[in-house]
Amino acid sequence: MSDLPKVLVLGAGGFIGANLTERLLADGRHDVTAIDVDGEKLEGQIGHARLTFHRHDIRRRDDSLETLVRDHDLIVDLVAMANPSLYLTNPLDVFHLNFTENLRIVEHCVKHHKRIVQFSTCEVYGRTVAGVLGKDPAEMPFPFREDESPLIMGPVKNHRWIYACAKQLLERVLHAHGLEDGLNYTIIRPFNFIGPRIDYLPSEKAGNPRVFSHFMNALLYGTPMQLVDGGRSYRAYTHIDDAVDGIVRILDNPGGVCDREIFNLGTPENETTIRGLAHRMIAIFDEHFRRPGDPHPEIIEVSGEAFYGKGYEDCDRRIPDVTKARTLLGWESRHDLDSVIHHTMKYFVEAHRAKTAKGS
Ligand SMILES: NC(=O)c1ccc[n+]([C@@H]2O[C@H](COP(=O)([O-])OP(=O)(O)OC[C@H]3O[C@@H](n4cnc5c(N)ncnc54)[C@H](O)[C@@H]3O)[C@@H](O)[C@H]2O)c1
Repeated sequence: MSDLPKVLVLGAGGFIGANLTERLLADGRHDVTAIDVDGEKLEGQIGHARLTFHRHDIRRRDDSLETLVRDHDLIVDLVAMANPSLYLTNPLDVFHLNFTENLRIVEHCVKHHKRIVQFSTCEVYGRTVAGVLGKDPAEMPFPFREDESPLIMGPVKNHRWIYACAKQLLERVLHAHGLEDGLNYTIIRPFNFIGPRIDYLPSEKAGNPRVFSHFMNALLYGTPMQLVDGGRSYRAYTHIDDAVDGIVRILDNPGGVCDREIFNLGTPENETTIRGLAHRMIAIFDEHFRRPGDPHPEIIEVSGEAFYGKGYEDCDRRIPDVTKARTLLGWESRHDLDSVIHHTMKYFVEAHRAKTAKGS
């Protein structure tokens, strides 16, 4: 290792972590220690002179995690179960990993006076005022602001909120440690990042990934495009490269502007409904990627309960207000919705066709 600042990236093998690690190595301004139980998405990076990868479970009960925190200058925590289907099937595992185990990292940072960049979620905002009042969210835009918006969760029996609650509680504990112990933290609330290395196709690997992967599966394997509860919910998508650019600015923390602050990272201009996403994906696939013989998936509607199980509820609309990231960090996302979809689709199509060519 060199004299460069040492960054510990926990959850570096995930979608955001792998893209962030690649960027940090390319920038060449840090030595990076990457921690994850899974290293597959880091394959292109492992072996890099400024990267140390440990296949490590943060739940291990020894002093390894504390030692890692102690020996680094900056801690970036991405470890989570961040998949809606797990909130329904494994709510306690979601709570324990996303709160209890992440809390240990926070406490090591307090003890060793380390700055932590903690990944939270836009789901902490919960539902919109329009949704709660039974109004159409299309007619009542309600941008979420980091330091002003209330955080509105559904009832306890809708246990999908356990993820958002665990993340919110961790945010509140970070804030309290900032007040009482001077902990220096920055919280990031991502709004639907997508791009290369997000999830897998459910026809190729067991599980229930995020919506883009399901729709890609439909385009490549002909499974139906399932619109949960009519696909009426709105989401605003951000290209992972834009997201990573914002994250790096937060890591750099120019003049300490990110100290004890929360940042939304998202692209309000890239908002669409899930139904709108399905139609844009079909159009972009047809224009740029379709080959003779590719399936034409049907679009069907399913209830949230049928798709995810009991305890499901959704946020009707999530508009990020990114004024803070724009003004304090000069961050702007560059990719419009079609570009985000195109790049992510290219990644899936190329990986799928390489795999099927190998198999034939
Ligand atoms: N991608 C998004 O748009 C988005 C949106 C909201 C919040 N987030 C948050 O950002 C962070 C990263 O999200 P992501 O999309 O990269 O998710 P991801 O699931 O791809 O990454 C999480 C990583 O944590 C690792 N991990 C899980 N348990 C572990 C353990 N016990 N020990 C070590 N590693 C472990 C996983 O193997 C995985 O690689 C998460 O905290 C998530 O809640 C992401």
